[in-house]
Amino acid sequence: MAKPVILDMDPGIDDAAAIAVAVNRPDLDVKLITAVAGNVSVDKTTLNVLKLLEFFDKDIPVASGAKAPLKREFQDASYIHGESGMSGYDFPTVTSKPLDADAVSAIHETLQASAEPITIIATGAYTNIAMLLQAHPEDTQFIKEFILMGGSISGGNVSSVAEFNVFTDPDAAAIVFNSGLPITMIGLDVTLKALLTPETINELAHKGRAGEMLHGIITAYEDVHDGGKPMHDVNTILYAVKPEVIKTEPYAIDVVTEGPALGATVADTQHRWHEDGYTNANVGVDIDAAAFNQWFLDQVDLMNK
Ligand code: BDR
Ligand code: CA
Repeated sequence: MAKPVILDMDPGIDDAAAIAVAVNRPDLDVKLITAVAGNVSVDKTTLNVLKLLEFFDKDIPVASGAKAPLKREFQDASYIHGESGMSGYDFPTVTSKPLDADAVSAIHETLQASAEPITIIATGAYTNIAMLLQAHPEDTQFIKEFILMGGSISGGNVSSVAEFNVFTDPDAAAIVFNSGLPITMIGLDVTLKALLTPETINELAHKGRAGEMLHGIITAYEDVHDGGKPMHDVNTILYAVKPEVIKTEPYAIDVVTEGPALGATVADTQHRWHEDGYTNANVGVDIDAAAFNQWFLDQVDLMNK
């Protein structure tokens, strides 16, 4: 049976690639996609989810969520993803609409209506999820696993120690990490090891309509590293369907919510702050980059079917 999931995202080019993979996998049942402010404003991230669902002709409910972090001022990452958040491909004008319900109500109702617990995959700031946990703490029992892209235990990408999704809303991240949910954190420790190589990106252009679209947006994506481009958010979908290919280790993670280490996810490796044996997250630490590249290309074949 397909695994029921809710996606909470801020597309964003790598979020877009994650949606493309998730909605085309027969072993995932995407019940709802909620949008949050992050890479660009929530109006734009919501519109981008609708653009992708129309592109793939998928009828999945979409709800718009938080316009800004819980306590901090919103700062986007349009310098990486473009003004629209999904530069590099000319999507037709959208005709569908998001639900009237906001993201928190839509997630709550979807969890309540499901016969089995649902996995939530979050690849933007965790503002919507923190608001859900505050409004409906009882919902944790309906969440099978919380897989998030974000954080790092080995250095950041927006400061020397902080990763973008956690840095955007550290207060929300702290609520999530302290919630008792079964968390898998797929952070930069994994995603920066799984760069899409220039060869893989070129190959996309020859992989049908879906490949052309992905080639366009990934070419426009400004997250450039030596050796390729990280498809951060796609790693969460890979983990959801093939957890064995990402090596994880249990840690006690604390989120720093003020000062120069703002947004850092600190792993208590020396048991200084928590009792020996306490952990709150399964943290991704390693992945085979070549296998990731091949897997991503294989996903595009599924999209064109
Ligand atoms: C994360 O930040 C965003 O810009 C990406 O979409 C990804 O979720 C990487 O740090
Ligand atoms: Ca994202």
